Amino acid sequence: MKFLKSLVVVFLVMIPISAFGEKAKTIEELAAMYDSARCKECHAEIYARWENSHHARSLMGVQDGLMMTPLAIKGLTPFSPDDPAQATLATFPCFKCHLPQALVAADDAFAADYAKALVAQDKARVSKLRITCIVCHNTKAIIHRLSEGPPEADVLYGSKDVAAHDDEFFKKIKKGSIMDHAIMCGQCHGLGPNLEFENPVQCATLYGSYEHNYISKGGTQQCQECHMKKVDGFADHLIAPNWNDLEGTKKILLDTITMDVQTVGYDWLLKSKDWKPMVVVNTKINQNAGHRIPDG
Ligand code: HEC
Ligand code: HEC
Ligand code: HEC
Ligand code: HEC
Ligand code: HEC
Repeated sequence: MKFLKSLVVVFLVMIPISAFGEKAKTIEELAAMYDSARCKECHAEIYARWENSHHARSLMGVQDGLMMTPLAIKGLTPFSPDDPAQATLATFPCFKCHLPQALVAADDAFAADYAKALVAQDKARVSKLRITCIVCHNTKAIIHRLSEGPPEADVLYGSKDVAAHDDEFFKKIKKGSIMDHAIMCGQCHGLGPNLEFENPVQCATLYGSYEHNYISKGGTQQCQECHMKKVDGFADHLIAPNWNDLEGTKKILLDTITMDVQTVGYDWLLKSKDWKPMVVVNTKINQNAGHRIPDG
């Protein structure tokens, strides 16, 4: 029995993305399809940084507040169904960026399962849904799908070709054409309101700010150059800021935000012998991010 159980576990872990053309119907099924735990074996440093990133908790919200809960509760949003069991993928426009794998590999039964988990405030189950390695290195790795074709099921996309990759399922790595470009991140980091939904949704708009207020003013760096500088030889997958790490965030802010305050104090002689103390304060706050802050 024990042997059988471990067989089943290995099998689940290895289920490739939509291998059988079947769509995930539960949180566990979708999590298993995109599970990246095995990447840790060989990419330990990258995995450890990613695990602490916001991408690894993309449905949890600040302080694990399960921010999508209102969408599962009747009457609270225009998307909310009467009953969580009636939720569909369209109930959660947020999946476009917070869980894009749901749109290609799950069906409405999954959305209902997720809505029920939200109503139950089941953090343990919801936290299994993450923007994993496979999401960025496969699902979101190609944007010109008409010319380049969709991501191939057994290929990962990286910064170079690797003919024989040791992973048990992704046996090959191809050089992706956007991995070092801002648009890779821009797919989810937002241009403005998402007008394609029946009720437009606006969340992150930072990529719009990058395009229109940084690049257009002569900015030259890609998101990756600022956010994924190498740490111990590997592209930093923490992709800071990590808002749960106050010390780290404070350091970033100290390094990137400067404040120049100039003051001049004087006495104003309003009328004879009536001196009024006055002060002029000139404050200039500068930040050197490639976009507005804060966003979202
Ligand atoms: C058994 C070990 C092993 C496992 C498991 C493994 N990898 Fe790799 N991976 C490697 C090695 C070794 C290389 C480097 C090959 C080279 O440089 O020639 C590599 C290269 C890569 C690259 C390309 C690096 C570049 O420079 O662009 C990516 C992306 C990648 N792996 C992602 C993953 C992901 C995601 C997983 C889990 C789904 C994974 N790997 C699982 C060993 C592994
Ligand atoms: C266009 C892509 C996109 C869509 C659609 C989207 N989000 Fe977001 N959301 C992001 C990104 C990227 C961040 C983090 C970066 C930022 O805030 O600039 C974020 C951050 C958040 C945050 C703040 C951080 C946190 O975890 O608490 C909340 C809350 C949030 N989203 C809720 C939602 C909800 C609810 C929906 C659906 C109604 C939604 N988002 C739809 C991309 C999106
Ligand atoms: C949010 C998207 C995203 C996620 C999630 C993600 N990656 Fe990456 N990864 C990238 C991008 C973008 C690059 C290219 C960085 C560059 O060119 O500067 C990259 C580069 C790499 C590289 C090669 C570059 C190097 O210098 O180390 C490896 C290997 C890799 N990733 C493995 C992983 C593994 C393993 C995971 C999961 C633990 C993972 N990635 C999760 C976006 C992502
Ligand atoms: C698949 C969609 C997706 C991609 C691709 C993606 N992100 Fe994110 N990113 C998100 C979401 C969603 C969040 C917010 C998660 C949460 O709710 O905390 C986030 C959070 C972040 C944060 C943490 C700060 C914050 O306000 O939450 C940074 C920084 C960030 N992303 C930068 C990047 C960069 C740089 C890239 C490209 C290398 C990238 N992201 C690619 C979806 C994505
Ligand atoms: C010139 C360097 C630079 C470039 C280019 C850049 N960023 Fe940033 N970004 C920063 C710095 C510095 C911060 C930290 C400021 C702070 O603590 O909020 C930041 C903060 C963020 C945040 C947190 C936003 C918030 O609410 O404070 C997100 C998300 C993010 N960047 C994503 C991106 C994405 C996506 C791109 C590309 C489209 C990008 N960045 C390009 C330097 C850069």
